[in-house]
Amino acid sequence: MEYPAFKRALDGERLPAALVDLDALERNVDRLVALLGDKTLRVASKSVRHTGLMRRILARGGARLRGLMCFTAAEAAWLHTQGFDDLLVAYPTVQPQALDALARAAAQGATVWAVVDCPAHLAALDRAGREAGVVLRAVLELDVSYRPLGGRVHLGARRSPIRSAAGALALARAAESFSNVRIAGLMAYEGHLAGLPDDNPFSRAMNPARRTLKKLAWPRVTRLRAQVVEALQGAGVTLELVNGGGTGSVALTAREPCVTEVTAGSGFVCPHLFSYFVGLALEPAAFFALEVCRVSDPGFVTALGGGYVASGEPGWDRLPLPWSPPGMAYVSIEGAGEVQTPLQVPPGVQLDLGDPVIFRHAKAGELAERFNDYLLLRDGRVVAREPTYRGQGQAFL
Ligand SMILES: Cc1ncc(COP(=O)(O)O)c(C=O)c1O
Repeated sequence: MEYPAFKRALDGERLPAALVDLDALERNVDRLVALLGDKTLRVASKSVRHTGLMRRILARGGARLRGLMCFTAAEAAWLHTQGFDDLLVAYPTVQPQALDALARAAAQGATVWAVVDCPAHLAALDRAGREAGVVLRAVLELDVSYRPLGGRVHLGARRSPIRSAAGALALARAAESFSNVRIAGLMAYEGHLAGLPDDNPFSRAMNPARRTLKKLAWPRVTRLRAQVVEALQGAGVTLELVNGGGTGSVALTAREPCVTEVTAGSGFVCPHLFSYFVGLALEPAAFFALEVCRVSDPGFVTALGGGYVASGEPGWDRLPLPWSPPGMAYVSIEGAGEVQTPLQVPPGVQLDLGDPVIFRHAKAGELAERFNDYLLLRDGRVVAREPTYRGQGQAFL
């Protein structure tokens, strides 16, 4: 959308406002589905945090999309009350209340899965399962980080300590001593590849190194995933799912024979960090608009709000991207401000008090934590206003 179209769509709306272009969102669903081969896609809820959008994404993808990857057990239990099912909690907890809620959802008929990487996770699930009278499905998480030089260098997330077939088999054996939890799947997320933009304009000098890392690290991911699946199956463990990938790796992960499903979330709305992957053609679908509230100097405007800085390694790429009108830029000593954001206006652009400035968040789900609702657009016009998790009174992390 060009700036005049954004301005027309926002006419009469309160600012700040968050907008999702449903047409672009649906085209992104189609693009991701086209990369899946014969695999299914699990939607990462943390990268959406909006039940209305998740319903639309699942509806658009039909049978090619299967289930949600949730970010907390409490969230999964709540999502079940909202009519969602096949809920994989990808980040472990041992908190009894959260696991009890998850187990109760299972007792009510929900299909739930919980990621584990140590016997204590299994024990916590087993207790909750026993209380609720169900056997819970555990998904073992395999770490597939790149660890050259005999493991002295660790490039990848620090999550699971399970790094080999032997480690996976040991945990699978540990699970046999519990009666209310069983190993039912494997998850191996290659975040150091799937979440690493290879053409990042904010740190161009590092791009060649990132591409080299990706080339060197992929074979290990593929080999290790296959080895561990084979070892577990050989030991009689039934793997109902083998999950891998993220938006930045859908096509590559989907090619691996041992993988049954790929996860993606960010790609549906395509925040600006996901515009820097070579060969991944997605279009921006989520935006937010701030009000021009003052003019300090010629060539500058100040916007009301804006400091919606994303998580992860700190840097300029974590700030929202001024998007429209094109050419707007931060003032380097202020960046995106807590309540006001000064911006340089390019020559030829005229902005008046009350006008909107459009931004893209760096990440997909975190935008939803800043707004109670999203304005949903079709053909450039607002057709609905629907609550985010926050607007529904839910904040999980
Ligand atoms: C376990 C797991 N799988 C998949 C993803 C990919 O999500 P997205 O497609 O939003 O990058 C993530 C993101 O952090 C993750 O933690």
